[in-house]
Amino acid sequence: MFSESRYRVHVCLGPNCVPNGSKGTLAAFEAEIARLGLSGDVELIATSCRSRCELGPSVNVYPGAVLYGHVDELAAELICLQHLARDEVVAELVVVRWRWGESNPRPKSLTESIYVRSSFLVLPPGGPTSRSA
Ligand code: FES
Repeated sequence: MFSESRYRVHVCLGPNCVPNGSKGTLAAFEAEIARLGLSGDVELIATSCRSRCELGPSVNVYPGAVLYGHVDELAAELICLQHLARDEVVAELVVVRWRWGESNPRPKSLTESIYVRSSFLVLPPGGPTSRSA
């Protein structure tokens, strides 16, 4: 399932994240991971669409998964410095999804329970705002 790397980082190169700069995000992760000497600790993977196109470039960090949105090159460097190097989630970039409704399956874990289909919260530096999916 997971490699022996401490972290796995998924950067979306799907059709809606690329126009928002996800290739630059991926390059920033590559450069910063190398600069910080984290290559042995982090597996960096380019992925297809993560179904969070409106939040692109979208990034998942495992274990978690911790879901990050609007990850530009500067945000990628911050995630490397804070999350990957110091084990501190960058809270202001985290996307939280809430699940509700009878048709949704029962969450299997606390992490899964924060996902939702129909809406999500984005936690910007100034505090949370809600948007419709
Ligand atoms: S294209 Fe990146 S989340 Fe859909």
